[in-house]
Amino acid sequence: MELHMPELKSQPGRLLHCPAPAKLNLFLHIVGRREDGYHLLQSVFQLIDRCDYLDFQVREDGQLRRLNTVTGIPEDQDLVIRAAKLLQSHAQSTLGVDITLTKHLPMGGGLGGGSSDAATTLLALNHLWNCQLSDEALMTLGLKLGADVPFFLSGGNAFVEGIGEQITPITTKEQWFVIIEPGVHVPTPSIFSAKELTRNTKAVRITDFPDATNATWKNDLQAVACTLHSEIEDAINWLSQQKSGAGLASAKMTGSGSCVFCSFDDEDSAKKVCAQVPKRWTAWVAKSLQQHPMKAWLQN
Ligand code: C5P
Repeated sequence: MELHMPELKSQPGRLLHCPAPAKLNLFLHIVGRREDGYHLLQSVFQLIDRCDYLDFQVREDGQLRRLNTVTGIPEDQDLVIRAAKLLQSHAQSTLGVDITLTKHLPMGGGLGGGSSDAATTLLALNHLWNCQLSDEALMTLGLKLGADVPFFLSGGNAFVEGIGEQITPITTKEQWFVIIEPGVHVPTPSIFSAKELTRNTKAVRITDFPDATNATWKNDLQAVACTLHSEIEDAINWLSQQKSGAGLASAKMTGSGSCVFCSFDDEDSAKKVCAQVPKRWTAWVAKSLQQHPMKAWLQN
């Protein structure tokens, strides 16, 4: 299932086809827990070229509206509306916006779709409303919406620590990924709050991160997710079998699931494996990105 990446269009008071890319966690270690219950993690966040797309049209009357229905997300709970509200009140803007959100990223998939939509909304409205907030100020606001939002605002791939707010930019290699949606929705809090979750993985140094192929760089949330949803384990096993061979990366879950992925050095190999994925699962190929496409557009 290939998706064409439409070009971002800018018109007076409007931005159309603004991309909100997905991320993959190339590994995700839980290294501790804060007193407020949030988990301290270490992870490499990788941007990929599969995106949601958003259209923004400025309103003079200050109202914030989402124009389309999005299954499973009521308008007032949508992170894009919450992001717009937060920026409007922080920047004391009198302007409003109409937003159309075209979803391609599954919810409860561990791809950061909701957080990425929120980040793209903050970037677009900071521009359209001329709020002139710095990157740092936007990231501080973004963290109030979700732990992954600051990463998307940072604009590139990163080694992420803390609960998601400590971001060190890194360069990752060009790769293709086969991503399987096992068809289950995993609410993030249910995984993080599980008794069996291990929370004491030894902290790593990012300079030790060779690439994603090393089996010691794992996703600590995966075991819990597989216990709760056997489909995730089935998808990991299936995908890992396609890449059997010494030294090659096995498949892994991203974030708190449910999506699982496997990396390939070339597009053809990824496409061949993707074509074999059992029909009960949705699967697609994505390419690594080095830069957030919306951030890159704003910088030019
Ligand atoms: O911030 P976000 O909305 O993505 O997190 C959803 C939930 O996941 C939080 O309410 C929390 O229960 C859990 N979480 C956590 N530690 C993190 C990120 C999320 O415990 N670093």
